[in-house]
Amino acid sequence: ATRTTRLTINGTVHELRIEPWVFLVDLLRETLGLTGTKKGCDHGQCGACTVLIGGKRINSCLALSVMQDGAEITTIEGLGAPGRPHPLQQSFIARDAFQCGYCTPGQICSAAGMIAEGRAHSDEEIREAMSGNLCRCGAYPNIVAAIKDVLT
Ligand code: FES
Repeated sequence: ATRTTRLTINGTVHELRIEPWVFLVDLLRETLGLTGTKKGCDHGQCGACTVLIGGKRINSCLALSVMQDGAEITTIEGLGAPGRPHPLQQSFIARDAFQCGYCTPGQICSAAGMIAEGRAHSDEEIREAMSGNLCRCGAYPNIVAAIKDVLT
């Protein structure tokens, strides 16, 4: 049976009837058309599906949608606005912090959550705090540089 679930996504309130087994990554991409959030491993290993819930980063492939009732969710589409990219989006471009770009929305959402946590400052700490976000192109040095630009 579906359950009515109320989610605020990028500032817009949605009341949705959701099957209890639908994961947030699929709800975002398939029901709501927010395809910026990517699905890589679908098992909580790669971080491509990272979104922010109440400002905290989570792997949306592990989060059941109905469990998020009442949550405030921010996806990559909600971080910037057309013509007004988020500082992390600007720094990722400036620092060439991607190659194929598939992991980038997750990297940027994760970095936004990491910055809000306020614990990582050095390159080493940033790498550790971002270790849940894999980049198969190996753009890690540029990702760290882009995050550091926003931190400092
Ligand atoms: Fe969710 Fe890989 S798709 S962590």
